[in-house]
Amino acid sequence: MAILNIITEEDPTLRKTSRRVDEITPRIIRLLDDMRDTMHKAQGVGLAAVQVGVLRRVVLIEVEEGKTIELINPEIIEASGKQNEIEGCLSLPHKWGVTDRPMKVTVRAMDRNGEIFEMTGEGLLARAFCHEIDHLDGKLFTDNAIEMVDESELS
Ligand code: NI
Repeated sequence: MAILNIITEEDPTLRKTSRRVDEITPRIIRLLDDMRDTMHKAQGVGLAAVQVGVLRRVVLIEVEEGKTIELINPEIIEASGKQNEIEGCLSLPHKWGVTDRPMKVTVRAMDRNGEIFEMTGEGLLARAFCHEIDHLDGKLFTDNAIEMVDESELS
């Protein structure tokens, strides 16, 4: 396993669309494992493959310590409610903004065994689903931030 380099805003790769994963290969498994190490090292709650320069539809989320959620080809199939909370991104260090997100989100994705599953999240998890899936389409949270928040204002 390895710690991968997380690319930042200046890198145009972040604006590209990631390709679907058709088959779980040893390479995809290694990507998932390396992304997990990388996310833990960076103390992030989410990481999309594009952020380590790999244009595949692969996302990791960990809003609860030790419980890593792996999503391959994730799609939002249901969204409801609304939340306006502060968001950040490992690729945009020191940037924070209030975003407009649904409060409750259901995703459908594939796991590392090739099984399709559905998962519903509320609050932070719903936000993370939206944020990470946006990455797969080249979008950053600053695109739909209602307002940016200065880092010094955060406790
Ligand atoms: Ni991000």
